[in-house]
Amino acid sequence: MIGEILKRFEPRRENLLDILHAMQEASPTNSLSKEDIEAVAKYVGITPAEVWGTATFYSMFSVKPRGKYVIRVCTSPACHLLGGESVLEALKRELGIDVGETTKDGVFTLETSSCLGICGVAPAMMIDEIAYGNLTPEKIKEIILSYRKRGEES
Ligand code: FES
Repeated sequence: MIGEILKRFEPRRENLLDILHAMQEASPTNSLSKEDIEAVAKYVGITPAEVWGTATFYSMFSVKPRGKYVIRVCTSPACHLLGGESVLEALKRELGIDVGETTKDGVFTLETSSCLGICGVAPAMMIDEIAYGNLTPEKIKEIILSYRKRGEES
């Protein structure tokens, strides 16, 4: 499978971020494994340490296994001032995990993030690529419930 993903890209260093995105998206653990990193390094013609450096520099990549859905809560000033802390606490309570952890069923990983670029709707978070704003602890309950229901339906 790694080979098939790699074939979609020219083996050039400029494609590194796109390749890592595609690899992570295809990963059942929503992360980049040691094997992924080695394969990408070989394909692009750079050292595994360089790929590792890129994978650990950008917050959108993870080298640690993560849940099916990755929740990133903004902790930058605008969100913080408008109740971001209570939103984060509500998520911890609702999921029963701390920041950096994954629920036992492997469905959710909770992370914090710097500004997500949607300060106009602070406090905000992203679940994968979907943005949620004007959050309250009550809204958090509804959103998490809707994701849990999706899991039951699929
Ligand atoms: S400060 Fe939270 S999205 Fe910008």
